[in-house]
Amino acid sequence: MEKKLINIKNTALPMILDAQTIEELEELRIQFLGKSGSLSNVMKEIKTVPTDEKPLMGLLLNEVKEILETALKNKQHELTQKNGREKHYKIDITEPGIKPLLGHLNLMTEAISEITHIFEKIGFNRVRYPEVEWDWYAFESLNFPENHPARDDWETFFINADPDKKMGAMLLTPHTSSGQVREMQKHIKKNKDEIDIKMLNIAKCYRRQSDVSHTPMFHQFEGLVVGKNIAITHLKGTLDYFVKSYFGENRLARIRPYHFQFTEPSFEVDVSCGICDAKGCRLCKAGWLEMGGAGMVHPNVLKAGGIDPRIYTGLAFGWGVERVLMMKEGIEIDDLRLLYSNKLEFLEQF
Ligand code: DAH
Repeated sequence: MEKKLINIKNTALPMILDAQTIEELEELRIQFLGKSGSLSNVMKEIKTVPTDEKPLMGLLLNEVKEILETALKNKQHELTQKNGREKHYKIDITEPGIKPLLGHLNLMTEAISEITHIFEKIGFNRVRYPEVEWDWYAFESLNFPENHPARDDWETFFINADPDKKMGAMLLTPHTSSGQVREMQKHIKKNKDEIDIKMLNIAKCYRRQSDVSHTPMFHQFEGLVVGKNIAITHLKGTLDYFVKSYFGENRLARIRPYHFQFTEPSFEVDVSCGICDAKGCRLCKAGWLEMGGAGMVHPNVLKAGGIDPRIYTGLAFGWGVERVLMMKEGIEIDDLRLLYSNKLEFLEQF
């Protein structure tokens, strides 16, 4: 038995060391160490060994087994490393690469920068004003007398803080119109003799509203132009320009009389339906889709901003970013909160 064991060791070791592939190595393992391999066969003979020699034979058997196992393990390690290296050298440079996952800006960010670019082309300056605002800028200076019922339409969040004597309560701004008088004051400070305002205020707005089509936080973009001889034709021209640039060349803007405290006259702006070309279809019903408000700046608002309404006139408009975005993409979002979520299934579609 002893001879047989030594024989196995002497045959197996060089074969293991010479193995070229992992598969070959596995075959050798089965041949020598497998269930019915050479070593197992010799093990069966232990019964025939005289009792006093049994411990020694057992020891020898274990030793040969261990030597072979170690050799197999080392060779396996060597072969896997070599394989890895070879793979490395065998790069096929003509094979198409793996494309890394690429994200894109959020829909809202894209819409805001697109709107900004469109207005910048015709000379508007993008500005930002506080989201935590005073009642005076959000309402009072925009020709909403104290306790005026129209204020209720703006479902405002008030901050739990002491009101200021002149500025009134502190609140979360419910619309971007609160930037109008701030902008006028900025220009008056700079040069009160030559007022030339072309403001684009895009900001977050907040209202106490929450259902599938209204979120407590949303975005508006507000345009304000103040200068000499600014007329309704400028307003209509600006709106036409925006509608064509943002929605497409064949789209039209229409203004309809309306009421806002801070504009006189006031309008609601509609955009012709892109599907039926203003003829009327299932989507739009009457051919036009409602977009937002606009008007000629009320003299009281100019006065609040320190501007003389006998010399200067102005136009203004304020629309929802979410609204124009949905209309452009032709999407009906069941739940507006999707726009602010990180749901890739939704965002990857755009
Ligand atoms: N601030 C109004 C709103 O939130 C929208 C608006 C209407 C803005 C008329 C304007 C305007 O500048 O002239 O509903």
